[in-house]
Amino acid sequence: MKVAVVYGGPSPEADISRKSARSVISALKKKGHQVFEIELAETIVEELKKINPEKVFIVLHGSPGEDGTVQGLLEITGFKYTGCNTETSAICMDKDVTKRILKTYGIPVPAGETYFKGDRVEPVEFPCVVKPARTGSTVGISLARDEESFKRAVEEAFKYDSKILVEEYIEGRELTVAVINGKALPPVEIITESGFYDFDSKYTKPTTQYKVPAELTSRLEERIRKISEKTFKVLECKGAVRIDFRIDKWNNPYILEVNTIPGMTERSLLPKAARAAGMEFEDLIEEILKG
Ligand SMILES: Nc1ncnc2c1ncn2[C@@H]1O[C@H](COP(=O)(O)OP(=O)(O)O)[C@@H](O)[C@H]1O
Ligand SMILES: [Mg+2]
Repeated sequence: MKVAVVYGGPSPEADISRKSARSVISALKKKGHQVFEIELAETIVEELKKINPEKVFIVLHGSPGEDGTVQGLLEITGFKYTGCNTETSAICMDKDVTKRILKTYGIPVPAGETYFKGDRVEPVEFPCVVKPARTGSTVGISLARDEESFKRAVEEAFKYDSKILVEEYIEGRELTVAVINGKALPPVEIITESGFYDFDSKYTKPTTQYKVPAELTSRLEERIRKISEKTFKVLECKGAVRIDFRIDKWNNPYILEVNTIPGMTERSLLPKAARAAGMEFEDLIEEILKG
């Protein structure tokens, strides 16, 4: 198949996207596809018209790209693409909107408040987590333990977005679950030194450990898989998404967010989960391509 891989662009997460794209491109080539590489820029439509691919494989993290804008452009210009549609991408980019929708479907999310620039902000209770509504890679997110750090956390989050979330801190374990075309893979547990999966723990710290699959009671695992598949369904996702969870000490799961274009380097979490389920990286990429 003639496939155009779109990556990079002006997003703060563009470098990670370029790394993901390297792995995706090599997997597509191994599968015998004819691959064209496109760095996201204003010229994307002209480039696509020249190539005329059967499918556009979107490997963009953050905005623009994971937020539905590129998907919308491809809808208008008539190119088929991988993953979630414009609407789902836009919804999932916003953690506040995502949580509100999931809550109405009875899916557990952390309690919290939403604030807009200029609002008087009050903490739910300490410790709490303060985060911009629409960033990724733990950018602008802080854990606040007292008034002083809370004030700083709010200021920091407002640097990135005009809407922020103040959430109860879910003390306990961290899991992430990949869902591919509606089917949940075994949950992966993330064990960090600080108990907070921040930018360094994600991309640079060698001390972050991953348990693939996570050691869970079969009852909890079943519950988490069910919640993940329901989330995929009610948000009308497509392709491969990754859902971030926290589990409290009573084993109650909470969804933090849904990543519609998760990291795709061979070391990323979604490929790790796929491998644990017996799916090789190239087959995973093929599955996403076929959608
Ligand atoms: N309510 C919360 N309770 C506990 N930890 C949290 C909470 N919200 C975020 N975190 C921590 O911050 C990390 C990043 O938060 P997340 O909402 O997944 O945003 P993103 O991954 O887009 O930056 C999580 O993986 C988790 O370690
Ligand atoms: Mg996350």
